[in-house]
Amino acid sequence: MERKEFNNIFNEIPLQIPWIIIAAYSIMNILKTERLILRAFSCDDWKDLYEYLSQESVVKYEPYDIYTKDACKKEAEKRSKQDFFWAVCLKGSNKLIGNVYFKQQEPEEFLTWEIGYVFNPLYFGKGYATESCRELLRYGFQQLKARRIVAMCNPKNVPSWKLLERLNMRREGHLRKNIFFKSDKNGKPIWNDTYEYAILADEWFNSFE
Ligand SMILES: CC(C)(COP(=O)(O)OP(=O)(O)OC[C@H]1O[C@@H](n2cnc3c(N)ncnc32)[C@H](O)[C@@H]1OP(=O)(O)O)[C@@H](O)C(=O)NCCC(=O)NCCS
Repeated sequence: MERKEFNNIFNEIPLQIPWIIIAAYSIMNILKTERLILRAFSCDDWKDLYEYLSQESVVKYEPYDIYTKDACKKEAEKRSKQDFFWAVCLKGSNKLIGNVYFKQQEPEEFLTWEIGYVFNPLYFGKGYATESCRELLRYGFQQLKARRIVAMCNPKNVPSWKLLERLNMRREGHLRKNIFFKSDKNGKPIWNDTYEYAILADEWFNSFE
């Protein structure tokens, strides 16, 4: 093989592989708390995802219906390429017990992130959602320099707004019948209210004084 040909192969393959690996693993950090690891999704997470996204009670207030196994495979793959879905895993077993959505809102210069969460009911009532969201608030304010973190939930979803209040987020609004995700059997939208919650960086930093 001529040296030129060899160089072409070297340019096309070996240099690209490390970049693909770096791209996949560098979009998200790994965050650790006392009991949990927060990491990027991987395609292998689909089984754990299916354990909770296949349950009606879990998706009741979400803008989607229950997931099939195939849909979970696609979802895990999709999330593995996104930088705003954190897989929440138990330390030690690496079992995925839920996920936290943490995404910057437009326009970027407002420095506002939205937080959302869905957990496996087998792991409700143990403070895992609080622990992981608390860590993402810390990450948002300290690392990403967020100015404001917001969340939205249905007022009927009591565990959800209780969680936001444990995080010291403030209820800033109650929007009346502003949104629908699902329709009734006659195809009519089921309108829902929304609670809006927020916390500012100053408030978060001052809470440690
Ligand atoms: C919203 C959701 C994540 C809340 O789950 P959760 O288990 O209530 O929240 P946590 O994991 O933080 O656990 C808190 C509960 O555990 C208890 N707890 C036990 N040990 C604890 C600890 N070490 N630290 C904090 N709380 C602890 C708390 O007292 C609290 O119980 P309470 O509500 O009866 O007072 C969960 O209901 C869910 O995933 N629902 C389905 C999806 C959904 O609706 N998402 C929100 C859409 S807006």
